[in-house]
Amino acid sequence: MIQMFSVSKTYPSQITAISDLTLEVPAGEFIFIAGPSGSGKSSLLRILFGAEKPSSGEVIVNGIRLTHPSFKKVYQLRRTMGIISPDFKLLRDRNVRENIAFALEVTGHPPKEIREKVSETLRQIGLQEREKDSILSLSAGEQQRVAIARALVKGSSLILADEPTGILDDEMTGKVMEIFSERHQKGATIVFATQDANLIQRHPHRAIPLMAGKRGDGESSEEVISEE
Ligand SMILES: Nc1ncnc2c1ncn2[C@@H]1O[C@H](COP(=O)(O)OP(=O)(O)O)[C@@H](O)[C@H]1O
Ligand SMILES: [Mg+2]
Repeated sequence: MIQMFSVSKTYPSQITAISDLTLEVPAGEFIFIAGPSGSGKSSLLRILFGAEKPSSGEVIVNGIRLTHPSFKKVYQLRRTMGIISPDFKLLRDRNVRENIAFALEVTGHPPKEIREKVSETLRQIGLQEREKDSILSLSAGEQQRVAIARALVKGSSLILADEPTGILDDEMTGKVMEIFSERHQKGATIVFATQDANLIQRHPHRAIPLMAGKRGDGESSEEVISEE
């Protein structure tokens, strides 16, 4: 599903966010990318959805090479993914329901199916009472839940979640983790970036520790490949 070989990312500011990183994520795995603020988690995820080009190395996601991606390929790829960004990227002039529905409208789902899927997702994330409310009237935590709902409503086989529970309370974090686990059990691949060590401890998934853009678990590329 995801293959990264010796990937580095240096920004024009000369900051190296990712340094010689090799990682394979087979289809159906739930994997944590763990690390403190500034360790490169968001850069790694942005590379995986084509928002950032690697400076060197190879990246293949869902069979699409992202080393020199064309706009069309990136667009194609994103349609098959659920992406949760730390800044939510919600549409401020649309209400809660419309924001979630938008993810399905762009992929041309029929209106009845959109209504049903959005209602189901609103229920799961506990926002059914707020469906007609403006995004601007929501708390930051509620906005984060809308962003999660929008990423999940498509039922994507690959979910890239960048600190999706970062500002949620414990109860809501538990609820969100249950929804992710359910998707995982149904076969979705989930890449989950977090700096919450307790959260990782509570879930039995592989965790890749990132430290200054490098793998903190000392795995070399050969070891990773031989796992397959
Ligand atoms: N667009 C950017 N331009 C320049 N530097 C960046 C950019 N994005 C991130 N960085 C830098 O790259 C490093 C890793 O950042 P980031 O990937 O956001 O880490 P994390 O998500 O783990 O906090 C940080 O030093 C950060 O300042
Ligand atoms: Mg980040």
